[in-house]
Amino acid sequence: MTELPGSQLPRIHTDGVSRTYPSGDAQVTALHPFTHAFPPGLTAVVGPSGSGKSTLLNLLAGFDTPTSGRVTVGDTDLHALGEAERADFRLAHYGFVFQNHNLVSILSAQENVEFPLTLAGIAPRQRRERARALLAQVGLEKRAAHLPHQLSGGEAQRVALARALVRDPAILLADEPTGNLDSHTGERVLELLTAPARAGRTVILITHDREVAALADHTLRVKDGEVMVEGAKVAVSSLSSVPLS
Ligand SMILES: Nc1ncnc2c1ncn2[C@@H]1O[C@H](COP(=O)(O)OP(=O)(O)O)[C@@H](O)[C@H]1O
Ligand SMILES: [Mg+2]
Repeated sequence: MTELPGSQLPRIHTDGVSRTYPSGDAQVTALHPFTHAFPPGLTAVVGPSGSGKSTLLNLLAGFDTPTSGRVTVGDTDLHALGEAERADFRLAHYGFVFQNHNLVSILSAQENVEFPLTLAGIAPRQRRERARALLAQVGLEKRAAHLPHQLSGGEAQRVALARALVRDPAILLADEPTGNLDSHTGERVLELLTAPARAGRTVILITHDREVAALADHTLRVKDGEVMVEGAKVAVSSLSSVPLS
């Protein structure tokens, strides 16, 4: 688990990151070169379907390789790592809530949440307690023994969220995590994503939901593979304290 205070956590940045896909004889540019230092807090990634949001998240995660440019986390060039090193690096610094939940089908909800701790060599008892606490936070304490196929889509998504949070990652990536959820559960999930953002983690969230986007500290708007950084929101009270002369 991350023991560092928020200010010392590794930050993620991109340096001219782009992605093109071959399409017949031509190339489709899913993401134009994008340079950005992600600040701590909640960044919402918004834009129409097919605009390049998931492409960006997959590059930030190191699941996909950029056509050009670099993704850096702290001092580490993510794509310069070997496959196994990158997997270890991810485990240490990232949490994911992606649309294909990737729960392990033969493990119970509890075991799925414990899994990152198992890989990190955390003792069984600590693991169990931490996973139980996370399952309770997502409202699934009664589903701990269920296998993924015994869960609804929304429940599986919440198990994936509990697993993403179990090691208190510095960087949390979520691709429409409130998509399958009723509004009450969606609110609970949002609370669980905003809490780490308040604690100085970098939370990057793709969403179609305006209410969710309105909660974000920062917004990236993606259109036809171009990412625009929207102006930081400035509270009126802090504006009024700026001297006019
Ligand atoms: N593996 C792939 N091969 C070819 N084209 C792809 C691939 N993945 C995404 N694309 C294309 O890249 C564009 C952006 O896709 P995506 O990032 O999934 O959009 P979004 O998440 O905003 O809906 C789309 O035109 C999509 O068809
Ligand atoms: Mg997508």
